[in-house]
Amino acid sequence: MPYYKHPLDVTALPSWQALERHREAMQAFSMRDAFAADPERFKRFSLSGCGLFLDYSKNLITNETRDLLVRLAREIGLERAIRALFDGEALNASEGRPALHTALRQPVGKRLVVDGVNLIPLVHRVLNQMTELTGRIHDGLWRGYSEHPITDVVNIGIGGSFLGPQLVSEALLPFAQRGVRCHYLANIDGSEFHDLSTRLRAETTLFIVSSKSFGTLETLKNAQAARTWCLAQGCPESELYRHFIAVTSNTEAAVSFGIRKENIFPMWDWVGGRYSLWSAIGLPIALAIGMSNFKELLSGAYSMDQHFQNTPFEENMPVLMALLGVWYGNFWGAQSHAILPYDHYLRNITQHLQQLDMESNGKSVRQDGTPVSCSTGPVIWGGVGCNGQHAYHQLLHQGTLLIPADFIVPVVSHNPIADHHQWLYANCLSQSQALMCGKTRAEAEEELRAKGWPESEVQRLAPHKVIPGNRPSNTLVLERISPRRLGALVALYEHKVFVQSVIWGINAFDQWGVELGKELGKAVYQRLTNGEEDPAEDASTQGLIDYFRGRHRG
Ligand code: F6P
Repeated sequence: MPYYKHPLDVTALPSWQALERHREAMQAFSMRDAFAADPERFKRFSLSGCGLFLDYSKNLITNETRDLLVRLAREIGLERAIRALFDGEALNASEGRPALHTALRQPVGKRLVVDGVNLIPLVHRVLNQMTELTGRIHDGLWRGYSEHPITDVVNIGIGGSFLGPQLVSEALLPFAQRGVRCHYLANIDGSEFHDLSTRLRAETTLFIVSSKSFGTLETLKNAQAARTWCLAQGCPESELYRHFIAVTSNTEAAVSFGIRKENIFPMWDWVGGRYSLWSAIGLPIALAIGMSNFKELLSGAYSMDQHFQNTPFEENMPVLMALLGVWYGNFWGAQSHAILPYDHYLRNITQHLQQLDMESNGKSVRQDGTPVSCSTGPVIWGGVGCNGQHAYHQLLHQGTLLIPADFIVPVVSHNPIADHHQWLYANCLSQSQALMCGKTRAEAEEELRAKGWPESEVQRLAPHKVIPGNRPSNTLVLERISPRRLGALVALYEHKVFVQSVIWGINAFDQWGVELGKELGKAVYQRLTNGEEDPAEDASTQGLIDYFRGRHRG
């Protein structure tokens, strides 16, 4: 019986009900007191693996919480689900496919047979193809129409065909190979194309049209614009093939677009867009940092796959992070989760995790089509520290919402300037400390008195200075950002998202919700441009169409 066929109602499980009772008992729990009472708390609630160190001691948890959460994972059948994921069971049931991004990081020589085909040699064949291409470009052997080597690569793609590659290639900039700059073109907004193209020369630019479906409007429009631009810049039509390659599972469409078959890198329907940076969709990464670093990235992710499969849940990083998310979302009413990287190079991680998590777990029916009985994926948001401290952290500290946060910080900087990194690290730690400790009324009053304020002012100002504290966070510490550690970090979040989908019984690998907007977009476009008489279904949309048409009439 396939694993996904009969998802359990998680809220009916004994462990869920025990967690509900436990939540009530935890109402008065104070992290501050728990740390004061237990000198071992940090040790007990932290662990390391795959080059990452996770401190989850600043959470609203006790030993009992962890035990109950782990029990929940067992009762829901997580062990079996993990096996099903790695074995290639069709966990993406609504599309009848497995989700085998983990196959992309398996070392050569491994076997993974799905529907009678061993996938690992296919994966390594494409890796070899990527090695060949990156070698030719880095060695200046791939030439543009004027026989000059390629200096700039533009990845045309959106969603998973953009966010993962952009995160990784920019995060690993210290490992960049000389000579090739990578750029990203995602939005259909002509201003993005304009801004980018004014910085490029067609004769030394290679475009990668990166689209699993080769049917995504934004990508196809931008690819067409790039083609037109190349021709306008002087590239003869017969030489365009030197400037366009594609990564897609729809070879036919790429060929009809005009890309030569030998310049098309395959990808497979068993890799979801948001899980695809490990495939040839990662070409811009390989071009930015070289193939051996790309392989290091894969091996970092592979090490996390091993950790995820083989480590008891009590010490399993993705499992624990997922369960903590369930604890806050389902038992404490948290509706969002902040990702706060304290590292310039990781500045794009929030956007990648936003797609990874929200497109995966933004669902309200279970695998069998029945409505979920509890809330599912949270809003993922955040941004780079310290900048957030001077913007939205105020709400984290004193707002009325409970927002768990992940702080991510390397111990060693790639670019040490004076004592900047010490300050950056100190800021990261002090934020999680402030969230946890807060400031009591008594402390606020004492502080004001010490500054010599009269008692009337102390009483007036103190309420504004109280910081509730007891706000949870995880801190993930890396040695220094490297391909291996980044691979492990991204895979950690992939598995976290998967575990949560298993708990909620939903399909983490489809995304039907994005389709409706695409469909309606076509009809709105027709009305805007053809002046179709048939009015939109609602007055608001029609009014906005009329507004646009009024401006563009004649
Ligand atoms: O619209 C959402 C989406 O389907 C994502 O899931 C995907 O990553 C993105 O569009 C791009 O799709 P493609 O790679 O097929 O162009």
